[in-house]
Amino acid sequence: MRAPLFAAPLLAAPLLAAPLLAAPLLCAALLAGCTGGAPAEDSASTCAEEPVVTWDNFGDALLTGHCQSCHASTSPDRAGAPVGVIFDTHADATAQKDAILRVATGEAPTMPPGLSIGDTDRELLRVWLTCYE
Ligand code: HEC
Repeated sequence: MRAPLFAAPLLAAPLLAAPLLAAPLLCAALLAGCTGGAPAEDSASTCAEEPVVTWDNFGDALLTGHCQSCHASTSPDRAGAPVGVIFDTHADATAQKDAILRVATGEAPTMPPGLSIGDTDRELLRVWLTCYE
């Protein structure tokens, strides 16, 4: 009667260890799927998994709502925004996509001043300009 009791912990050990070992791998897979990878990652490999984000369904509204108060060519008060940095049209925006990605996405965004857009909008901005323009 003693042998089975003694053996029980030995049998249980691998069963407990398996999920612990698998957890980091599972987390890595989930993170990659949820975030679409880090901004610096090769976009070609992840864009296929991203939502379709375009000027029409996102970019126009985001820039109009959060950037154009200062950056529109017709803005009455540009608050010091540089003359050439305007997002009036789709072409204006994509011509400056590298600058937008640099200041409004990534780890330390500076635009818009006061950082009034959330992480979700920043991520969609990144997907739009990186994958679809
Ligand atoms: C309240 C006014 C204001 C708003 C709103 C605003 N900006 Fe700006 N932006 C500025 C000013 C002022 C500068 C110049 C100073 C600087 O670069 O910080 C600037 C500079 C920039 C530049 C040029 C930076 C460079 O280094 O070349 C880009 C690109 C830019 N903004 C993008 C955006 C985007 C994208 C948004 C919206 C998500 C936005 N801005 C919203 C005022 C604004």
